[in-house]
Amino acid sequence: MSSSEPSNTKMAGVVDQSWGTYTTAEHAVWDTLYERQAAILEGRACDAFLRGLEALDLHQGGIPDFRRLNQDLEGLTGWRIVAVPGLVTDAVFFDHLAHRRFPAGRFIRAATSLDYLQEPDIFHDVFGHAPMLTDPVFADYMQAYGQGGLRALHLDHLQHLARLYWYTVEFGLTATQTGPRIYGAGIVSSHAETLFALEDLSPNRLAFDLERVMRTPYRIDDFQQVYFVTPSLETLLAATLEDFGALYSRLDGAPDIAIDAILPADRVVSRGTLAHWAIAADTSQ
Ligand code: PHE
Ligand code: FE
Repeated sequence: MSSSEPSNTKMAGVVDQSWGTYTTAEHAVWDTLYERQAAILEGRACDAFLRGLEALDLHQGGIPDFRRLNQDLEGLTGWRIVAVPGLVTDAVFFDHLAHRRFPAGRFIRAATSLDYLQEPDIFHDVFGHAPMLTDPVFADYMQAYGQGGLRALHLDHLQHLARLYWYTVEFGLTATQTGPRIYGAGIVSSHAETLFALEDLSPNRLAFDLERVMRTPYRIDDFQQVYFVTPSLETLLAATLEDFGALYSRLDGAPDIAIDAILPADRVVSRGTLAHWAIAADTSQ
């Protein structure tokens, strides 16, 4: 790939990936993480993710070069990955998504802390998110989310939208004939949570319901206590096509739902023991 390709540096808030500046050690961290995840995702990640991972060929040796990756991704769904210097504001984030650009960090975690992340790194952003962006339905969902975010910027409901993102894009499960499969980037990019989300007895797994999800807070410091399972990606997209105006009004009068609660109206996929957090609480006095 020639380095004289047009770069993204002229777009506000976007930086060049500077792929040539990664060290051998940084490339090796990508390879280690890739192999560790690839070994457990078969039969756990949904077909759309596994197909996307294959199509993008993210295991050519080391951290992918966005110029190469974007040729494949743009050809499939018109999405591309852009490098950003760190966390971006809501407005910038929504604007990227609305234009089929996914903002990714360019740094990678240290070899000494493969499992600990204070903010998303390139492995989470690219390995976790890019494969699903090759799926036409999910690709449309992510763009619609960005457009919805831009519309909601001046409404007081960004927290509700953030919960939708969290419980779908980051921690979503989708149903198959052989049980729930993972599509959420926060799960597929984490070795421990990939196993936990599907196999641990602790978390609740509930059928996806848009309003219910928006009323449910989430935790960023531990595995999720509840995962929402959508019947299919098409169902997820269809549920978000309606204008959220009426929904936002209803949410104004609706209290949050405790993170570990199961309501009479919930469709339970599997009821959790919540044992994981009981133990955590015992030892953290
Ligand atoms: N339909 C939503 C709205 O009117 C847009 C949206 C789509 C939001 C998908 C989130 C996810 O705002
Ligand atoms: Fe993410």
